[in-house]
Amino acid sequence: MRLKEKTAIVTGGANGIGKATVNKFLEEGANVVFTDINKEAGNKTLEEMREVSNNVLFIQHDVSKESDWINVIEETLKAFGKVDILFNNAGIFSSKPVTEYETEEWNRLLGINVTGVFIGMKHIVPVMREQKSGSIINTSSVAGLKGSVNTTLYGASKGAVRIMTKDLAVEVAADQIRVNSIHPGIIQTAMGEDVATSVKASSEQLAKSIPLRRLGKPEDIANLVAFLASDESSFITGTEMIIDGGMTAK
Ligand SMILES: NC(=O)c1ccc[n+]([C@@H]2O[C@H](COP(=O)([O-])OP(=O)(O)OC[C@H]3O[C@@H](n4cnc5c(N)ncnc54)[C@H](O)[C@@H]3O)[C@@H](O)[C@H]2O)c1
Repeated sequence: MRLKEKTAIVTGGANGIGKATVNKFLEEGANVVFTDINKEAGNKTLEEMREVSNNVLFIQHDVSKESDWINVIEETLKAFGKVDILFNNAGIFSSKPVTEYETEEWNRLLGINVTGVFIGMKHIVPVMREQKSGSIINTSSVAGLKGSVNTTLYGASKGAVRIMTKDLAVEVAADQIRVNSIHPGIIQTAMGEDVATSVKASSEQLAKSIPLRRLGKPEDIANLVAFLASDESSFITGTEMIIDGGMTAK
């Protein structure tokens, strides 16, 4: 029960890494408000999560919309009185040669993966500042650390998340707000399948290329996020936590 009496917001919580993290946070005793653009999937996940704990709410939310963010934070404060943890997890993937992108498409992805994280941080900092505590965890990727073919747009978004995290960490450290980024490798989710398709490889082939000889599970990421959310990581801020089975160490 490492998160007992803490309240968390998890974006993109209906599926994949977000869903596994909602589950883990509830098991660790937190109150959780999870959000997602997909209402149907969110309501389905809510039903499942109620088997774990009743201290859970779902709110439909497009992270690229400021008014949605204001609503999510207001509703969370109304329900639980504070916000200790923000997991900026929602994101979308895209892969193609840079010459094939329309500028509109470029801006749309950045609107979700980068502006979404910015708006969340902008509105949660005053709440956490008042509390004189808080942990923000932003989801970057190994794609935010190294280059790969056809990943200019997604890589730009995840690289931005990496450095925004460090900048904000320094800006708000005196208020005892911690901000860290996580950098997953290939994780077995719908997005992980899109990544495999984009490099024309099967899961088995990808697993063989990873030093630990397997793809990541959403639960692997949830365990790291729970640590960064908890007081066990109280001296950790501004870091980039790579969780990739050794992929980037090669
Ligand atoms: N799966 C991987 O291999 C991998 C690797 C590195 C980083 N990541 C990152 O991890 C995060 C989660 O990815 P995942 O693999 O669980 O993906 P996923 O596609 O399984 O889940 C993403 C969730 O985000 C939601 N979402 C999409 N756009 C949204 C929006 N505008 N507002 C709110 N919610 C929205 C989706 O509906 C979905 O439920 C993403 O930021 C992704 O970039 C994933």
